[in-house]
Amino acid sequence: AGEQLRYDGQTVVVTGAGGGLGKAYAVFFASRGANVVVNDLGGSFNGVGGSSSMADQVVKEITQAGGKAVANYDDVVNGESIIKTAIDNFGRIDILINNAGILRDISFKNMKDQDWDLIMKVHVIGAYKCARAAWPHMRKQKYGRVINTSSAAGLFGNFGQCNYSAAKLSQVGFTETLAKEGRKYNILCNVIAPIAGSRLTATVMPPEVLEVLKPDYVVPLVAVLVHPSNDESGAIFEVGGGHVAKMRWERAKGALLRADDSFTPGALLKKWDNVSDFSEPSHPEGPANFMELLEDAQKLPKNPPSEDISFKDR
Ligand code: NAI
Repeated sequence: AGEQLRYDGQTVVVTGAGGGLGKAYAVFFASRGANVVVNDLGGSFNGVGGSSSMADQVVKEITQAGGKAVANYDDVVNGESIIKTAIDNFGRIDILINNAGILRDISFKNMKDQDWDLIMKVHVIGAYKCARAAWPHMRKQKYGRVINTSSAAGLFGNFGQCNYSAAKLSQVGFTETLAKEGRKYNILCNVIAPIAGSRLTATVMPPEVLEVLKPDYVVPLVAVLVHPSNDESGAIFEVGGGHVAKMRWERAKGALLRADDSFTPGALLKKWDNVSDFSEPSHPEGPANFMELLEDAQKLPKNPPSEDISFKDR
């Protein structure tokens, strides 16, 4: 009791750790005893260019404060080489925080393949490549913690961000499957949808909001989730500005109709209120049991004959 959460002897890889949230994670974990790989390509917020200075600056701050960190300047699509930096310098990889990210905001009407592809490359392929390279090490040592980074834009959609939304919700499915496959090796994987002032949000938030929504307020959740004592896995968290909340799926009551030739669009429309009845929701962690439901459905009387009505007629 009264002790800090510590990460002594563990190695943390933080991608995109040259600024924003990634830097906050890197500085924190180094201050709590971890060896940190500070990865950053050092490009612009929309994925142009590159330089070693962002990662170097963070490593300098960490080492000057007495912490242990090394820089890596690879693009996250070279996950193999980022994880190799951890193994070569510290002999292990315990925690991977997939955080690197860029934006290419543009309306869907004006979206070009290159805007779509670059976002997929950094967020989807990047997170995959880093996790894929870390996975064998984590399995072998029967220990690992992975954080993937989603976004409100992924969970809810956002104007001008369909590329980013698609890439960010992909982190949820990716994490849920890794959590299932990793559990028996004590590899726990969670996904966060953060909100914080950074150069990414500087374009959409006023300065006074940027100022108070500090990346530091996302750090405690990540610290808890990647600690050895954590048991959460496969969960989604909304986090920022002092607020932390789990998110989950919700299933409506649903409609059950006899599945035969009386199951017409019109018969379904007559039961539409049940399809979308959230008054007594369930919170599933897997798909509905379709075989069992089908059996129940077949016990129902034939659906009453119905013309194909429209929504407005039902
Ligand atoms: P940021 O721009 O300050 O940090 C992202 C870092 O990733 C930058 O330092 C950048 O150089 C680096 N990076 C970009 N592409 C890279 C690549 N291919 N390889 C290696 N490094 C690369 O932005 P912020 O806000 O700290 O974002 C961190 C993560 O959080 C991103 O995944 C972002 O999409 C996500 N996020 C942030 C939100 C916010 O409110 N700040 C909201 C929702 C999600």
